[in-house]
Amino acid sequence: MTELPKPSDLPRHVAIIMDGNGRWARKRLLPREAGHVAGVGAVRDTVRAASDIGLENLTLFAFSSENWKRPKTEVGALMGLFRAYFKSDMDELVARGVRVRIIGHRGRVATDIGGMIEDAERRTLDNKGLNLTFAFDYGAQEEIANAARELARAARDGRLDPETITPELFATRLFTSALPEPDLIIRTSGEHRLSNFLLWQSAYAELLFLDTLWPDFGREALMDALECFAQRERRFGALNSEAVA
Ligand code: IPE
Ligand code: IPE
Ligand code: MG
Repeated sequence: MTELPKPSDLPRHVAIIMDGNGRWARKRLLPREAGHVAGVGAVRDTVRAASDIGLENLTLFAFSSENWKRPKTEVGALMGLFRAYFKSDMDELVARGVRVRIIGHRGRVATDIGGMIEDAERRTLDNKGLNLTFAFDYGAQEEIANAARELARAARDGRLDPETITPELFATRLFTSALPEPDLIIRTSGEHRLSNFLLWQSAYAELLFLDTLWPDFGREALMDALECFAQRERRFGALNSEAVA
């Protein structure tokens, strides 16, 4: 059993690209949907572990703005699982003091899902435990373009001086404005890419690419990832103390 690193070595914000459900299913000669069902189990296990550990922020990439390109049946199955997860797990999340947020386009999902999202956010608004954010119908380029459009409108209407636009101001227009930037981004399944996830916010994130397929991820894998993060040396463009001395 991996031991938890000391609190000062823990990331404030872990974000995960949950990939590999389809390959997990194929290895077992099961339909892709079965991989997604197993993936929900990994979400549950990971969220419980993050909440038990006392992690501040966990963001999970659940459905990308590009995932609409998948066959209708698969998209339908993913939407169904999203619904089922919120129905079955909301009470536990509330009991754990988890604050739920969903980042993404919103306008394209079914109305009942939109309602569930609003309900989950409202029910957990005052919770002070884990900040759990699902990126759902999320695409980082779209998010950045939205922010730029908002600022451009404000400038056009005379509410904003373009000269005052800084990275900090820009970040207040992103979906993640309430969250610190991710310190650690994990991607499962062996793919080495971000697939349009948190492109702005990942500027100085530590990246961890694991061969584990998402349904096999959980408490132990999260602990291992935290241990690995604790070994990383972050410099943010400066020099570490040894190099300066
Ligand atoms: C991740 O697993 C789930 C979503 C993207 C919604 P995939 O469905 O992408 O699984 P692979 O990559 O085909 O194995
Ligand atoms: C990224 O996985 C999106 C999610 C995990 C929700 P994909 O499986 O969609 O990414 P690509 O297509 O391999 O880049
Ligand atoms: Mg994939």
